[in-house]
Amino acid sequence: MSLDRKYLVFALSYAVAGMCLGIYMASTQNHGQLVSHAHILLVGFVTSFIYGIIHKLWLNNPGAIVAKAQFILHQLAAIILFIGLMLLYGGVYPPEALDPILGASSIGVLIAALLMLYMAIKSGTAKA
Ligand code: HEM
Ligand code: HEM
Repeated sequence: MSLDRKYLVFALSYAVAGMCLGIYMASTQNHGQLVSHAHILLVGFVTSFIYGIIHKLWLNNPGAIVAKAQFILHQLAAIILFIGLMLLYGGVYPPEALDPILGASSIGVLIAALLMLYMAIKSGTAKA
């Protein structure tokens, strides 16, 4: 499967997961997981979707290793971030225990964004 389609499948999966959490929050009238919900949808669904579009429209043969590493890093860091946020806002572990995981995964999401910026600059002209 091409990377743009992989991004699309992951993005839509986060959309489903985030919406389920939104419906759960709305139906229980407990909005405690608002931050997890917002980030599953925005870092998961919206950002992955945009990365998929960037691949489709602008990346002209990006280096295969960089592109693969960027995809894996974004997904891995995002999933760890979401699990960390759910545990934090679910009150399962205290912030002191989760801070290193949340910090590291946030930096992972940031480095993936920097790698995407690098590929966008390197990739040169747009596809016709
Ligand atoms: C089935 C669809 C959805 C349901 C049932 C739902 C439900 C909710 C609920 C109950 C809240 C908490 C509101 C509050 O306490 O202030 C919330 C907040 C939020 N939702 Fe959703 N949501 C849905 C879809 C989405 C989508 C598709 C996105 C973005 C792509 C999104 C982004 C957000 C954001 C950013 C917040 C936080 C807003 C704030 O900071 O006050 N939601 N949602
Ligand atoms: C490295 C990734 C990110 C980190 C570490 C991060 C961190 C945070 C933090 C600490 C808050 C405040 C939560 C609170 O109210 O207590 C927040 C809120 C918010 N962030 Fe992010 N964020 C990240 C990425 C993003 C991205 C990519 C988007 C949008 C595309 C986004 C959209 C929002 C929105 C709409 C809010 C307000 C809703 C809420 O309270 O949850 N964030 N973020």
